[in-house]
Amino acid sequence: MENIKVLISSEKLQERIKELAKEIKKDYKGEEVTFISVLKGAIFFTVDLMKNYEGDAILDVIRVSSYEGEKSTGNINLKIPLKEENIKNKNIILVEDIVDTGRTFNFLVDYVKNMNPKSVKTCVMLDKPSRRVVDFNADYVGFKIEDLFVIGYGLDYDEKYRNLPYVGYIK
Ligand code: IMP
Ligand code: MG
Repeated sequence: MENIKVLISSEKLQERIKELAKEIKKDYKGEEVTFISVLKGAIFFTVDLMKNYEGDAILDVIRVSSYEGEKSTGNINLKIPLKEENIKNKNIILVEDIVDTGRTFNFLVDYVKNMNPKSVKTCVMLDKPSRRVVDFNADYVGFKIEDLFVIGYGLDYDEKYRNLPYVGYIK
């Protein structure tokens, strides 16, 4: 693991996550929120976000995949679906590790909307706006980054490096 450069330190991530949690709390004005973690990448971010969220919150998960190695395959596979009874009339926040082409979030927002939630918003730790293929803007963004393939804090390269406490890239 010696060729990894730090892009966003653990301290910076935690600081920003605290701000995001406060921002979300303010927006929902005491209403209950359901955080849906998009597995596997968003687990780390979701846990820290929820631990800093001082309000009524529910955790749910969904699993999709579109990537193999460094390449997006373009089609999204739903590996763990949601249950409509957990979405209907709820304030949903979809939590992702990173937005790249925008395809995953585009798919997920439509998928959730079909289950008649009270509201749907999106929260992402990292955003690579220069890579967008479909038009998409997240409601809550941790950091905007340049076009780099990043790893760590949940993000993998062929399933490795998720456990790094910071976001880095391979030199
Ligand atoms: P999108 O559908 O192209 O927006 O891709 C989103 C998904 O691709 C994310 O949830 C990640 O799993 C994966 N991904 C995109 N960029 C990176 C990266 O730089 N490192 C690791 N995974 C990435
Ligand atoms: Mg992902």
